[in-house]
Amino acid sequence: MKQQQQQQQQQTVLLGVTGSIAAYKACELLRLLQKAGLRVKVALTEHAQELVGAATFRALSGEPVATSLFDSPGNPINHISLAEEASVLVIAPCTANVLNKLASGVADDLLTTTALATTAPLVLAPAMNARMLRHPRTQASLELLEAAGATLVGPGEGYLACGEEDSGRMSSPEDVCAATLEVLARTQSLAGKRVLITAGPTREYLDPVRFISSPSSGKTGFALAREAAARGASVVLVSGPTDLTSPPGVEYVPVVTARQMLEAASEHFDTCDLAIFSAAVADFRPAEQASQKLKKGASLPSVVPDNDPATVSPAGASLASVASGTASASYSLTLTANPDILATLAARRAATGAKRPYLVGFAAETEDLLSNAREKLKAKGADLIVANDVSDPALGFASSHNQLSFVSKEGSSQTAVLSKEHLARHILDTLTPELC
Ligand code: PMT
Repeated sequence: MKQQQQQQQQQTVLLGVTGSIAAYKACELLRLLQKAGLRVKVALTEHAQELVGAATFRALSGEPVATSLFDSPGNPINHISLAEEASVLVIAPCTANVLNKLASGVADDLLTTTALATTAPLVLAPAMNARMLRHPRTQASLELLEAAGATLVGPGEGYLACGEEDSGRMSSPEDVCAATLEVLARTQSLAGKRVLITAGPTREYLDPVRFISSPSSGKTGFALAREAAARGASVVLVSGPTDLTSPPGVEYVPVVTARQMLEAASEHFDTCDLAIFSAAVADFRPAEQASQKLKKGASLPSVVPDNDPATVSPAGASLASVASGTASASYSLTLTANPDILATLAARRAATGAKRPYLVGFAAETEDLLSNAREKLKAKGADLIVANDVSDPALGFASSHNQLSFVSKEGSSQTAVLSKEHLARHILDTLTPELC
């Protein structure tokens, strides 16, 4: 009874061990995790058992070891109970085979089935031959798993089992243990907090098929939502149209236009502790929207044939499609301003004198990054502006990486170029002390 109560209070690490020669390092890792006060249960793949036997892990962990998808009477373990019990799933070493299986959702043994069934965060310590590591498929899997929120530890460089000195060596048990403890510390850092995130572009339709928008993919906002939910927050994600799937456990509110985004954000704003406005909201919309697809020679009052071919419209891209095929025709489009969602909600907070939600705006700039961000901080009434230079096509809009500058009344700082998942962690690490 006492042991059962202790186990309930303790966080459980499910340590998956796969068939790499580095499997022996998992024994040391297990010991380190136990020393940190964690309960460790082990799941071995068939190939791992060729290298280190279940008896070793059973003796070290003091727990039954999971080896097969099918229960045996003396070893009643199943993947669903393991998946539910785990506070974190650590796979160390993680072979190229298991890594690529995880990335494609293959679940053909106890470990991969458990990985698919668990909602616990995933820590991976890859270990493999350098050529297997450099293979584009493995690289794509690493990218995909990281984008899905997995924490990758290594691999490092050094002497490999194949006799080569190269990259692919499993990180040290100390490093894997430290990363695991960090992940566990994060899991509850926003428990009890409510977070609102706007993401993606908005679309402002000119007619049923043409619109003004931006190249925002939603990656930044979705990574923030996933990370906030992984830290225990209750998250509302209000997003314009993207190709992304909402992260599990997040309340997803799809919208199309800026006005719909304002309405949805406004509904959740007052109950939030933190609001992050990462959406690329269109500042303008066509003054009128045609109910049918516009023909060349459109008669919509806001789209008028223009006799001056030098006229440049703010909505040039959309107009180009209206005018395509007519060498000499050009059109002007009348635009009207959209509401500024961040500024509107910040003013509402200011009017009530409330300090919450803490307000984070983004600033997408092509010049004078910091001075423009400082201006936006003031003009919009945010507590923090996260600024990015979107003139570099490899960063910012729709890329997997970005470089951010944090601008507040206290000063500014800049990150390195990092993946958007890393940046989401960095942003929430920065904000957590403000909220707690
Ligand atoms: O989605 P990704 O492909 O990952 O790309 C990420 C990103 C480039 C979209 C992101 O990093 C970013 O910069 N988001 C803000 C884009 C933007 O619209 O910046 P802005 O400087 O125009 O707006 C400043 C702030 O006001 C932003 O927080 C914006 O959400 C908000 N805003 C702007 C206009 C408006 N009408 N309402 C708003 O709330």
